[in-house]
Amino acid sequence: MMIFKIPVKASSAAALAICMMMGATPAISMNNQVHSIQTLPRILVLATGGTISGKKNGMSEIGYNAGGVTGKQLVEDIPELAKLAEINVEQIANIGSQDMNDAIWLRLAKRIQEAVAHNEADGIVITHGTDTMEETAFFLDTVIRTDKPIILTGAMRPSTAIGADGPANLYEAIEVAANPKAKDHGVMIVMNDTIHAARWASKTHTTAVETFQSINAGPIGYVDPASVRFIEPKKQPVPSFGLPTTAPLPAVEILYAHSGMGASIINDLIKTGVKGIILAGVGDGNSSKEAMAALNLAVKQGVIVVRSSRTGSGFVNRNVEVNDDKNDFVVSYDLSPQKARILLQILIANGKNKLSDIQSAFEAGF
Ligand code: SIN
Repeated sequence: MMIFKIPVKASSAAALAICMMMGATPAISMNNQVHSIQTLPRILVLATGGTISGKKNGMSEIGYNAGGVTGKQLVEDIPELAKLAEINVEQIANIGSQDMNDAIWLRLAKRIQEAVAHNEADGIVITHGTDTMEETAFFLDTVIRTDKPIILTGAMRPSTAIGADGPANLYEAIEVAANPKAKDHGVMIVMNDTIHAARWASKTHTTAVETFQSINAGPIGYVDPASVRFIEPKKQPVPSFGLPTTAPLPAVEILYAHSGMGASIINDLIKTGVKGIILAGVGDGNSSKEAMAALNLAVKQGVIVVRSSRTGSGFVNRNVEVNDDKNDFVVSYDLSPQKARILLQILIANGKNKLSDIQSAFEAGF
């Protein structure tokens, strides 16, 4: 919270004029003197839908529609927020996040860039479905340059369920966004009292409120209604790339490896004109001999192949079980298949086609 001290000798009229200039609410004492002004941090809430906006007539969480309540209603339903921040709400979309797509990402990113460029807010909070929240967070983290906090939040239970977690998550997301300590941490996810960095956050459980975990790293901080604590002092510097101007982003598909994997699915994919393939490989980003031979053929035809892992944690390193140098494969290191896909799309959209540049981009950030 910013506190502006007005000289006590200033007349009430002069002090009130200063208040109005600053757009702040004056605090007037009993003797009619204005002695201080408090302005709240300005938070822009961009609503996109998800279970946090889910609505059902009954009190169960079964059979609800994601995106039934607007962002404005979500904020209005938490009167305590008025003490925390001055909040503006805009509805960017109202969808279940399984339908999130490149076009909405670009709309969201452009709105954030505009708000940052014109200093419209001190922090930005995005309400979002949890299913693909980590993807939107990672996309924004890779293309937006700002020291202002950008925070995604959502809910595992719809707004009408008993034990709805959305109000607490939204309150805490705004609390973090409004806290000066949250500057320079890049894009974050705040859920269930925990602060996660976009690079590491992943949804790990179908229904539990503690579904978000920071794989390979751990959370960067914690929040409760009274405090915001960061464990990481600030985000590690990583290169960010230009925001692609048009959707759809370059076609990159994820292939899930399994025992007995053949070549036909890869050969079919090459015929679609795909620009990149992310292998969600077994173990250390591996697959059958047939699949590897087909991926090698894909590379020869100009498709960029990135090996990642379906295991959910750990790192895929170069040239361990697979000869990446010989095959001209890229490895994803810590990035999950879904985040590797986004990074490759952004790189290709930025004209980065050299394998060594692509590999370096994957290496940055840890
Ligand atoms: C969604 O991702 O929109 C539905 C699930 C959720 O928000 O938890």
